[in-house]
Amino acid sequence: MNSPANTLWFPYAQMKGLEIQNEVVRAEGVRLHLRDGRTLIDAIASWWCVIHGYNHPELNAALRAQADDFAHVMLGGLTHAPAQLLADRLVALAPPGLGHVFFADSGSVGMEVAMKMAVQYWMNLGIPGKHAFLSLRHGYHGDTTGVMSLGDPDDGMHRLFSGYLHRQHFVPPPEGMGDGRGEIRRSVDEALSTLATALRQHAHELAAFTCEPLLQGAGGFNFYPPAYLTEARRLCDEQGVLLVCDEVATGFGRTGTLFACEQARITPDIMVLGKGLSAGYLGLSATLATDRVFNAFLGESNDKAFMHGPTFMGNALACAVALASIQIFERDGYLAKIRRIEEILRDELLDLRADTVVETRVFGACGVVEVRDSLAWQGLQAFAGERGVWLRPFDKVVYTMPAYVIDEASLRQVCQTMSAWFGSS
Ligand SMILES: Cc1ncc(COP(=O)(O)O)c(C=O)c1O
Repeated sequence: MNSPANTLWFPYAQMKGLEIQNEVVRAEGVRLHLRDGRTLIDAIASWWCVIHGYNHPELNAALRAQADDFAHVMLGGLTHAPAQLLADRLVALAPPGLGHVFFADSGSVGMEVAMKMAVQYWMNLGIPGKHAFLSLRHGYHGDTTGVMSLGDPDDGMHRLFSGYLHRQHFVPPPEGMGDGRGEIRRSVDEALSTLATALRQHAHELAAFTCEPLLQGAGGFNFYPPAYLTEARRLCDEQGVLLVCDEVATGFGRTGTLFACEQARITPDIMVLGKGLSAGYLGLSATLATDRVFNAFLGESNDKAFMHGPTFMGNALACAVALASIQIFERDGYLAKIRRIEEILRDELLDLRADTVVETRVFGACGVVEVRDSLAWQGLQAFAGERGVWLRPFDKVVYTMPAYVIDEASLRQVCQTMSAWFGSS
């Protein structure tokens, strides 16, 4: 239980009168064990990052082994094997051409790095005025000030700050075709035509077009087809605008391929990874850049160098865990596990019908139920808790994005809890 003095300030919460009953004392696999003796299946993998489940023996061992050597050293003027090996591994796995990795400590900061990199790229080339961004509406790229400006400040969760943030440009994504069954609210062609116009109109001031590839997360869980991204890549090239893909949520398998960009067969100029990269153990992000971007920072002095360097970048513990995580992902055939999760989610969720439900949709290891009005979720968390499931609905959706190690019975229990809510409410 949280203290009545509110010494601990919780995220996205009205602190007045806040009572948090769920105190985790141990976590194992997909289960959270609470102080009051209850056990909950975590349906959302701690904001989607705990891809191997909790308390994984091999990840624990990697962490301990690295701690015995050293936990952290700065990357300014020093280097170490975990950071170098992880950079090499990510370059080998990423879409071809992304040859350089800049580490930071969270997805938000990884995206801030991407923004600065894109802006400085054009400055280093001597092309002035390209420091604005074009982004997809209903996007989410984190809560820090720069990236909030990319996350739909007029309409989305950062709207309170819209007067304070940089003004960026926005285009609507294709919408309403998550699983091929829902109503198409905006087609790929329609969305591409708006994108082409916006790029043409603003290319002179745009550093980059930014998007979450194929699966938009916290901005509303919209899914869109690879064809949009493939053509977006071509349009960005045509108009001389960089393409930044934020794979913080989609990277490491969430959409069924290691990276969502693969499904569109494209290489972004800059790609950002976070969350699953360090499997929920420690904060870590990686901003990958192509040779073309990287080479623009080369020169005889520091004038063109990238002036960024978070204290904890390339933290050795985080890199060691990330290396072990990638090894497990590949060795244990995680893409097949994710395909099976998708089958079960489709089986359980796609036929859910209720008056309040607008659409159910499934993509990779992500299952979503969207309702007309967020009031429909009042009481859901307690209802799910009584059935042994940890869910966190937000705005108009309730979703599951479980750890990939979830067993079939637990996943069906999660889905059936989501469905049962509509029978009961
Ligand atoms: C697509 C995307 N980008 C960036 C972020 C921010 O990552 P972090 O919370 O690690 O700062 C998130 C977090 O949910 C995300 O979903």
